[in-house]
Amino acid sequence: MPKAVRRTFVLATTPLALVALLGAGAPPSTGSSGAGDPYFPLAGNGGYHVDHYDLTLGYDPGSGHLDGKAVLTARAGQRLSRFDLDFKGLTVTGLTVGHAKAGFRRDGQELVVTPRRALRKGERFTITVTYQGKPGPVTDPDGSLDGWIPTDDGAFVAGEPQGAMTWFPANNHPTDKSSYDFTITVPKGRTAVANGVLLSQRTTHGKTTFRWRQSEPMAAYLATATVGKFDVQQFTTKSGIRVYNAVDPREAAAAAPVLKKLPSVLEWESKLFGPYPFRAAGSIVDRAPNVGYALETQSRPVYDRAPGLSTLVHENAHQWFGDSVSLTSWKDIWLNEGFATYAEWLYAEQHGGDSAQKTFDDLYAKPASDGLWEFPPGDPGSGANIFGTPVYARGAMTLHALRTRVGDRAFFLILRAWASGHRDGNGTTAQFQRLAERVSGKDLDGLFQTWLYTPGKPNRL
Ligand code: ARG
Ligand code: ZN
Repeated sequence: MPKAVRRTFVLATTPLALVALLGAGAPPSTGSSGAGDPYFPLAGNGGYHVDHYDLTLGYDPGSGHLDGKAVLTARAGQRLSRFDLDFKGLTVTGLTVGHAKAGFRRDGQELVVTPRRALRKGERFTITVTYQGKPGPVTDPDGSLDGWIPTDDGAFVAGEPQGAMTWFPANNHPTDKSSYDFTITVPKGRTAVANGVLLSQRTTHGKTTFRWRQSEPMAAYLATATVGKFDVQQFTTKSGIRVYNAVDPREAAAAAPVLKKLPSVLEWESKLFGPYPFRAAGSIVDRAPNVGYALETQSRPVYDRAPGLSTLVHENAHQWFGDSVSLTSWKDIWLNEGFATYAEWLYAEQHGGDSAQKTFDDLYAKPASDGLWEFPPGDPGSGANIFGTPVYARGAMTLHALRTRVGDRAFFLILRAWASGHRDGNGTTAQFQRLAERVSGKDLDGLFQTWLYTPGKPNRL
């Protein structure tokens, strides 16, 4: 803009408009309401990172009442005069930032917080939220339920993709990973199972308090605090992993032979994918008739019934692929589900079942009209499709196509390098492709384009 024009412009501008103009050029001081995920625009929040969640919960299965206190230790990524948390449903009874009461309002799933003074870029701060009420699940775009799902003796708690916000205020997107402490009090006779290592369990005045610690970074959707009447089994594996299994007695007989295989499954997966990424492991088997799925809750998957062996293999494979290496964007969900499904195929192949090639061939034989080819797995199109068959089956077929193309040696090197290179972090499909190309020395663009992004049944490679 020529100088003269600009001066005329400035002179013609009122002082108020000038302030607005200057403001438009300055970096915003309010955190955004989402992490920028196109499938779940309000999931997560911009402007800060949560290092740690300290959650104290009291749950009464009889009335369904929950009392909660969440202390989040966070760091501002920018100057912040206002920021959001994701929190849906429960009533907030108090909110402080640091030691000062903060202003807040609710707007759908956004809990909008205004601290008494703006936070400086880089500042570490704590957010304390007290809350209570009767939690319930959210309905996902595909119609399934997740979050806090009450059962006849407690609650099945699983948050993929959105449900964490039904029971604690969170920065609810897998790009923000944090450590967690849980202190959960339930009536004596009930067990509360969260992620990580059990630190203590104490009963007084008819109530039992369980303290759990998840030290390695975890995405909010992988947190659990499942409550019920459970048979508990604890042991440490030969490689030092602390195992805690909690099993609904009504599922115990069916679950026992499968859970017995957990140590050998983890050992087999560690040989294939590299060292198990967490210090704790286990299973929560909770009869929950209205759930319809299992979830790879970090360090301890939760199953809505006694799992079959392939489900056990699948959920534990997610500990590497999905939990330790997390998504950057929900549209890359095949990096979780395609990998965990391919782990099932590999397990069968190496334990006297069908070869992965046979499984691939059987799927490939399905006609072009089959649901398997309904959409390409690399971009399922919306949150309603993230758990669709193409994501799991064609996602696994993509890995098989890669294995066929680069050979076993390079393929298993790629899997291990993916798990170790992004351990406790995040990854994208583009990064996976680059890694596969680097390890194999091959241009794999055609392969990934065809299998992940091209609609319809691919021509055989
Ligand atoms: N990730 C889970 C699995 O192991 C599926 C979770 C489904 N969640 C849902 N809300 N439908 O495949
Ligand atoms: Zn899965």
